[in-house]
Amino acid sequence: MSYNPFSLSGKIILVTGAASGIGRATAIECSKMGASMIITDIREDGLAETLHLLEKGDGEHRMITCDLTIDEDLERMMTFLPVLDGMVNNAGITKPLPVKFINRVDIEKILSINALAPIYLTQKLLRKKKLGRGASIVFTVSIGGVYTVAPGNTMYGVSKGALHVFMKNAALELASMGIRCNSVNPGMIETNLVAGKQYSEEDREKDMKTYPLKRYGKPEEVALGIVYLLSDASSFVTGHSLIIDGGKTLY
Ligand SMILES: NC(=O)c1ccc[n+]([C@@H]2O[C@H](COP(=O)([O-])OP(=O)(O)OC[C@H]3O[C@@H](n4cnc5c(N)ncnc54)[C@H](OP(=O)(O)O)[C@@H]3O)[C@@H](O)[C@H]2O)c1
Repeated sequence: MSYNPFSLSGKIILVTGAASGIGRATAIECSKMGASMIITDIREDGLAETLHLLEKGDGEHRMITCDLTIDEDLERMMTFLPVLDGMVNNAGITKPLPVKFINRVDIEKILSINALAPIYLTQKLLRKKKLGRGASIVFTVSIGGVYTVAPGNTMYGVSKGALHVFMKNAALELASMGIRCNSVNPGMIETNLVAGKQYSEEDREKDMKTYPLKRYGKPEEVALGIVYLLSDASSFVTGHSLIIDGGKTLY
């Protein structure tokens, strides 16, 4: 057998928001590294497509449709989950709005999906003893809200800032249980989330030029950072934010 410290062979890993984008790429890359995947999302059709795309190795893969903001859905998911070696809190949404137009409905929805759902899910997994010793939890945060600010990005930035702070505090608390917590902090990545922002092609080209590598990232480029944080190659890494942004935050 060849030497591979990044192998996920024998590990059971849960990924949220796995119906598309970074979550789908993460599930695929983890399955290629030998993991048994449990994928979840609110979108059943996309989830089924992802399940189909997973590498069929020794492990088995499963999908669970779940709205992470609904407690009953979370409780139902708990009943299907085995003890996990890894968990990727990845599902998220955005809605750009100037501060003047922030409203209760939008901000509560964004906070509920981006920040509260990963917090509750982590809490429930701990309470139900579904995270094994040596487990690794990865949060898909962002550079936005933590390292950069942009007009219209306040609600999203607040949600990601909260998730960043949760990751750091959980890393300290859970270290005594041998559980690691880390985040990936992507810059702009080509996914539906970005397509949904409906930038003009001209604005997009202009924005890409602000990236030292002169392009946006691909979902796989974030997924491989997540693989590292899930694997034993990062066994002494906890409380870390792994920036994956083509150099955007160098300025
Ligand atoms: N793309 C970027 O540039 C970028 C940069 C930095 C960080 N991120 C973060 O990366 C993560 C993944 O984003 P992505 O770009 O891959 O977006 P994506 O392709 O839209 O994937 C996110 C998935 O999460 C699902 N989801 C939304 N609300 C949910 C809920 N209540 N319960 C369960 N699933 C739910 C979405 O379903 P719907 O399609 O129905 O909403 C979607 O399938 C997010 O946390 C995002 O904030 C993205």
